Amino acid sequence: MPEKPDYAELDAARPNWRFTPLHDCLAEKVILVTGAGDGIGRAAAKTYATFGAHVVLLGRTRGKLEAVFDWITAHTHTQPVIVPCDLLALNEESGFALMQSIDTSLGRLDGIMHNASILGPKVPIAHYPAEQWQQVMQVNAYAPFLLTQALLPVLERSPSASIVMISSSVGRAGRAYWGAYAVSKFALEGLTQVLADEHEHAGKIRINSLNPGGTRTAMRRAAYPAEDPATLPTPEERLDLALYLMSDLSKGITGEQFDARNWDGPVNK
Ligand SMILES: NC(=O)c1ccc[n+]([C@@H]2O[C@H](COP(=O)([O-])OP(=O)(O)OC[C@H]3O[C@@H](n4cnc5c(N)ncnc54)[C@H](OP(=O)(O)O)[C@@H]3O)[C@@H](O)[C@H]2O)c1
Repeated sequence: MPEKPDYAELDAARPNWRFTPLHDCLAEKVILVTGAGDGIGRAAAKTYATFGAHVVLLGRTRGKLEAVFDWITAHTHTQPVIVPCDLLALNEESGFALMQSIDTSLGRLDGIMHNASILGPKVPIAHYPAEQWQQVMQVNAYAPFLLTQALLPVLERSPSASIVMISSSVGRAGRAYWGAYAVSKFALEGLTQVLADEHEHAGKIRINSLNPGGTRTAMRRAAYPAEDPATLPTPEERLDLALYLMSDLSKGITGEQFDARNWDGPVNK
């Protein structure tokens, strides 16, 4: 295993990161990333592992998760775990089973990045297919609720846990034709605020929302087919904020809405 992971996208991004994280700032933490097989989730999983976290890789396409698993085991000293799971089918029972399997096999959980999401059709509400509306709401908003509820008992045992909800600009100000995607992100913002308020007093779990802004991924290509992807940042370029929110440097910060495009870096860099 090389001393320094072979991760060209991260190497290219780090000189412009807005803080300099310690190489082991996530050491020993166990972090669940949903949608870890592609896009921002894949980059987050690899980056979290690079900084020492054991990452639980949840996603719907086993082959993609295996590729991330293989990269992490080849390039870091951490032990990832694969959880193939279609969030469209997640229910209370399977959420509880996931909690039990994480608790039994890993014994702890220190963070969740709720990242998996589907775009759905970009059409006016007047013509939005009801079945697809339900699917988008299930994957983007209901599944994060179910997973969070199921996993709270394990997170509560962590000395310093963090939940990061990946949101979107259209989840903070509605825009025509973004339909259920926009509404589901408003729901995620609501979940962030309610949960943060419920946990603020105990001070053990912080919950924040993060809008990555336009990023070079398959979802962005689907939303803006005419756009040149080369004009967009890679996921790694804006992952400094997601790393900060998972690390103990962000202890005490909760219930906030972050935007990766205009973040100024931590107060104490
Ligand atoms: N990219 C942007 O410009 C942008 C801007 C604002 C917000 N965001 C947000 O950032 C997050 C990541 O987006 P992205 O651009 O990285 O999207 P992406 O490239 O489409 O990746 C989405 C991931 O979610 C997984 N996923 C989708 N449906 C799932 C399901 N039913 N069960 C389990 N996993 C599922 C996908 O799995 P498969 O690979 O197996 O399909 C994929 O790994 C999303 O929450 C998105 O709303 C992105």
